[in-house]
Amino acid sequence: MSTPTITFNTSQTARKKVTTLTLRQKKERGEPISMLTAYDYPSALAVDQAGVDVILVGDSLAMVVLGYENTLSVTMEDMLHHSRAVARGAKFALLVGDMPFMSYQVSVEEAVRNAGRFLQQGNMDAVKLEGGAERVPAIRAIVSAGIPVMGHLGLTPQSVNQLGGFKPQAKNAAAARKLLEDALALEEAGCFAIVLESVPARLAEYVSKRLRIPTIGIGAGAGCDGQVLVTHDMLGLFDRFTPKFVKKYANLHTDMQRAIGAYIDDVETRRFPAPEHTVSMPEAEWDEFLRGLQD
Ligand code: KIV
Repeated sequence: MSTPTITFNTSQTARKKVTTLTLRQKKERGEPISMLTAYDYPSALAVDQAGVDVILVGDSLAMVVLGYENTLSVTMEDMLHHSRAVARGAKFALLVGDMPFMSYQVSVEEAVRNAGRFLQQGNMDAVKLEGGAERVPAIRAIVSAGIPVMGHLGLTPQSVNQLGGFKPQAKNAAAARKLLEDALALEEAGCFAIVLESVPARLAEYVSKRLRIPTIGIGAGAGCDGQVLVTHDMLGLFDRFTPKFVKKYANLHTDMQRAIGAYIDDVETRRFPAPEHTVSMPEAEWDEFLRGLQD
């Protein structure tokens, strides 16, 4: 199969690779940051060519691609495999690899080694990890190894068993104060951005104003410096459930079912393949083939 030529529109050709500095400058200029997840080559290509600032190879991979109940089962090897595929498809977006459960919690040394693998073997530009002040030693060590770190506070899915489910967080004054303290600790430790997931909008806005680094919200209202969604949720590709905070821009699961149903119908009624989908053979060659059978 020959490789198709990809034509970019003018704004794509003029586009520069997004870096952590680009995100900081966007915050300073008050320009919203867009972030989406991708897990494979075609989704990375689509998301990158559409012009998103940041692509996260999220550990949501576990649920929306690999079919697990939660994100706890996904491994470093799974994450690196999918990171490499995304890196082959994305040219411009900042690429962030999500550190999976138990890849950074056991020791600072393991955290640094695994973060390094995302850059060396997964071709990512940065890593993301979940948690507050308790993660500061690991974050400091990863950052001093030259690896940019994105934090993640609020609903942290790797702690689903401790949180008692996928529930909104920081809804009371004490928890809100703790979230603010954690955010300030992550900034101080060297994070270049922080994801705020499923927390009250007024708190997310307050935290965003207090930080110099950008916040990226998911279910955290419009006051964050940027927004992220799981691509499979916003495209309607994951039909098991849709979180309340997701806006659906397409219904690709239904579209896929419709297309596949049409294919099955075409096969069963012999409408597919049609002449334009088949390989022809010159008449003379066919005659010679038949003559050969008679000899
Ligand atoms: O894994 C993921 O997709 C995430 C986003 C929800 C931020 O962590």
